[in-house]
Amino acid sequence: MADAFFEVQGLTKRFGGLVAVDNVSFRIDQGEVVALIGPNGSGKTTLLRLIMGVLKPDSGRIIFKGKDITRHRSCDIVKRGIAGTFQVVKPFRNLPCIMNVMVACMVTKAKRGEWTKRLAVKARDALEFVGIADLSLERAAVLSHGDLKRLEIARAISTEPELLLLDEPFGGLNPAETDLLGKSMRRLHKGGRFGRLHSEEMVMLIVEHKLMDLMKIVDRVLVLNFGQIIAQGTPEEIASDNKVIEAYLGKGVILGAS
Ligand SMILES: Nc1ncnc2c1ncn2[C@@H]1O[C@H](COP(=O)(O)OP(=O)(O)OP(=O)(O)O)[C@@H](O)[C@H]1O
Ligand SMILES: [Mg+2]
Repeated sequence: MADAFFEVQGLTKRFGGLVAVDNVSFRIDQGEVVALIGPNGSGKTTLLRLIMGVLKPDSGRIIFKGKDITRHRSCDIVKRGIAGTFQVVKPFRNLPCIMNVMVACMVTKAKRGEWTKRLAVKARDALEFVGIADLSLERAAVLSHGDLKRLEIARAISTEPELLLLDEPFGGLNPAETDLLGKSMRRLHKGGRFGRLHSEEMVMLIVEHKLMDLMKIVDRVLVLNFGQIIAQGTPEEIASDNKVIEAYLGKGVILGAS
C-alpha cells in the first residue's frame, strides 16, 4: 500500500493505571476532512496532544508524509506542517489579537526572513478568515469564549499547515456562528482563497461534540471509546453502527432524528 499522508500506528498513552489512548491505528489520506468523535474521556484530546508532540506516547508511531515524527518536539512538528488548536485556549491575554496571530506564525516562518509587515498581513488574513478581523486590535483578554476559539484557529492556520487538528472548534459558538465557521472550514479545506496563503487542499482532523454540525463538513469519521477505535467510516455508516449507537446511548445522536 502507498504511504499514507498521515498515519498513526499502535499509539498508546497511559496516565498511571489508565490507558487513555490504547493501541490506536488509523490513516488519513490527502484531501480528506476526518472527524474524531467519542464520548467524554474517550481519549480524543490526548490523541491530538500526542500528534502535536505535547505529550509523548508510551508506544506506537506517528508518520507524516513518510517521515516518523514520533517524539519530535512540538515546534518541529509545526514546522513540518501540522498545526492544532487546543480544547482549552491559552492566548497571550494582554496582546492584541493580531499580535497573538503574528507570534504564532513567527514560530514557523522566522527563518524565511519574513518582514513584520508581511506577517501582519498574513495575521490579518487569518483573522478575517475566522470572522474576527474587526477585533484585530483588541486585547485577547476582552474576547468572548467563542471569539477566543476563533482566535486560536486563526493562530493555527496562519502557520499554513498541511494538516490541521481542531479540538472542539464549535465549542462556545451559537448556531449561526457554528454554521459560518463550518462553511469557512470547508472553504479552507478546498484551498483557494485564504488571503494569499493556500492553494493546496488542507487536510483536517476535527474533534467535536456537536455531531450534526460536524457531519455536514467531514468525509470520514473515526470513533474512539475508552481509548480504542471502535468504528470508522462515512457519517452514514457510523450513524448506523451498533457499537457507536451503544457508546453514544442512542440512535439519532449522530445525524439527527431518524
Ligand atoms: N494529564 C492527564 N493526567 C491524567 N489523566 C489524564 C490526563 N489527561 C487526560 N487524562 C485522562 O485520560 C482520559 C482521556 O481524556 P481526554 O481528555 O483525552 O478525553 P476526551 O475524549 O478529549 O474527552 P472530552 O470529550 O471530555 O474532551 C480521561 O479519563 C482523562 O481523565
Ligand atoms: Mg477533549
